[in-house]
Amino acid sequence: MIKQLPALGWNAWNSFGCKVSDKLIREMVDVFVERGYKDAGYEYVCIDDGWSLMERDSHGKLVPDPEKFPHGMKALADYVHSKGLKLGIYSCAGVLTCAGYPGGYGHEYSDAQQYCEWGVDLLKYDFCYFPENANARTAYLTMSMALRAVDRDILLYACNWGRCNPEKWMNEVGVHMYRTDVDIHDTYVSFRDIALRHLNNMRNKSAACQPDIDMLTVGMYGGGFLSNCVNEEERNRNNDEMYHEYVTQFAYWCFVGAPLLMGGDLSNIDDRCRNLLCHKELLRLDQDAECRAPALVNGYGKENGAPDAFVLMRILENDEVAIGFFNFKDDNIDMRVLMADCGLPYYSGYGLKLRDIIEEKDIGIVKDCLRVTSVAAHGCRIFRGKVVKADDAEATICMKI
Ligand code: GLA
Repeated sequence: MIKQLPALGWNAWNSFGCKVSDKLIREMVDVFVERGYKDAGYEYVCIDDGWSLMERDSHGKLVPDPEKFPHGMKALADYVHSKGLKLGIYSCAGVLTCAGYPGGYGHEYSDAQQYCEWGVDLLKYDFCYFPENANARTAYLTMSMALRAVDRDILLYACNWGRCNPEKWMNEVGVHMYRTDVDIHDTYVSFRDIALRHLNNMRNKSAACQPDIDMLTVGMYGGGFLSNCVNEEERNRNNDEMYHEYVTQFAYWCFVGAPLLMGGDLSNIDDRCRNLLCHKELLRLDQDAECRAPALVNGYGKENGAPDAFVLMRILENDEVAIGFFNFKDDNIDMRVLMADCGLPYYSGYGLKLRDIIEEKDIGIVKDCLRVTSVAAHGCRIFRGKVVKADDAEATICMKI
């Protein structure tokens, strides 16, 4: 059975596009282990588009490009497994992949058999060149069943960018994770908009089927393949500002329990981003065993009423909860949440014993209202707490931080 928690790993697309190769993947695997990503819990190393020849062979099989993968896929998978990691590969539900390589449409069962023989552990299944008269649900169900027909656990990651209301059927067709939105770029606006749209969609989460809000751009600083998607001004931003926003990106992904596929060039990620990506308490939040969806408990609206600063609450294992303050506005703002809105009215006699998990600091027990003054523009504050019985003397009624 596939591990029923959000997948943790790395994917080649954001940094390398179609320039994938045996050499690159082995290098990434080595850095993955050396820089401690494996110890932090990451496990999938994923090849994206561009790994095969442009044509299938005479038996209808996909052929890894011999120039890029001179030792074949099986040898590469063996290498990945020898380091205790898992190999991801990419294909597409349409007749071609997004970059024009052969897609899986009509070849699902023989492709699945091939992935099994190679030792593949994850299949990202895209949605380009999808035939007009075909049905998306049927196509993903067919690949899901094809993977079930082979003698290997292969995680199915559907990537149809939120098209055709995937939240209504991805779970029932046996997909393990599915993209809910368009491709991320390495800009603040890109991940902000993905996060804001996700607010309307975040309830559709279960242990068996995880919504995915795309790969992380943490540590890319405007570089890599995705740099083709941004303009000069976006590419040349101040690294400290970008880092501040990466913290928000990573914290948001972890808070909502999204799959975490790093997209930076692992051999080039600076220490602070590496430490962020390996942040124990944020990763623990992402990987919470209850796998519950977050809930919106306070919002600060834009002119059209939709919030772009908000407070989320998430119920966790061991009777704990997380409370996250996210400010996607361009100014610092004061934010607050009432404990009554988190199910803890003042008359209950209970409070929340809180810890700031980014700062890694305990902050005491709060009973009625938690105010966070000046949440930085594009920033966030994340707390983890336990429900405790507390009289007024040991708690702070209205806590201001
Ligand atoms: C689509 C996907 C991306 C990436 C590319 C590859 O755009 O959404 O994540 O896999 O295709 O061509």
